[in-house]
Amino acid sequence: MKIYRAKDFRDMSRKAANIISAQVILNPQCVLGLATGSSPIGVYKQLAEWYRKGDIDFSETKSVNLDEYCGLGPENEQSYRFFMNKNLFDNINIDKNNTYVPNGLEPDAQKECRRYDELIRRLGGIDTQLLGLGHNGHIGFNEPGAAFDKDTHCVELAQSTIEANRRFFASEEDVPKRAYTMGIRSIMQARRIVIIVSGEGKAEIVRKSFFGPITPEVPASVLQLHNNITLVGDEAALSLIPEEAF
Ligand code: F6R
Repeated sequence: MKIYRAKDFRDMSRKAANIISAQVILNPQCVLGLATGSSPIGVYKQLAEWYRKGDIDFSETKSVNLDEYCGLGPENEQSYRFFMNKNLFDNINIDKNNTYVPNGLEPDAQKECRRYDELIRRLGGIDTQLLGLGHNGHIGFNEPGAAFDKDTHCVELAQSTIEANRRFFASEEDVPKRAYTMGIRSIMQARRIVIIVSGEGKAEIVRKSFFGPITPEVPASVLQLHNNITLVGDEAALSLIPEEAF
């Protein structure tokens, strides 16, 4: 595992954006695996800035997102499709037809999950997967206890995740209770993984995930088994990991 220690959120975002832009420059037709949440917002801003300057061309690039809430369509401001359009796709020259997010409006979970797995296979797999890390160690919506051998599937969200998401909705009842998510196996099949973490609040789960036992109780701990993983974190988020790790 490579670890990059950044000064702050901005520096973390720039370092992670550098890795992604190198991927796109080396292979413009690559498949990027993308995440939502607060962690990647700075990365997406940086990529859009470099695009505007003429430094990166996304016209041939494809993307697949990790997850989507069940029941929310693209026009819903809380949907992950809406988030991706607003924070990245509308600001770069990627062809939106080449950007994929699970279809939250498909009621047949089995059908949607198999379609998404098939799509990833047809694209040739993911070249670089960007991940954030949940406070309980989740990646995508793979919550503690999730089996390591799953592809895309439908999950019931943990109460802590519903509460964490509550701030974005009018009331707790409005927070979706289920989501479609790539499974741990889908994530582990990406050829390269970049995980970004920032803030003191993530320090303990970063230590547990990358320096603790590999266990489904800490889903991100499985990433220790990946052969091409880069952890990019700011000083606060990396503050509890052993100095020898750098
Ligand atoms: C987002 C996702 C989640 C987040 C995680 C961290 O697509 O799958 O696993 O990456 O919840 O969220 P933030 O970045 O908001 O701390």
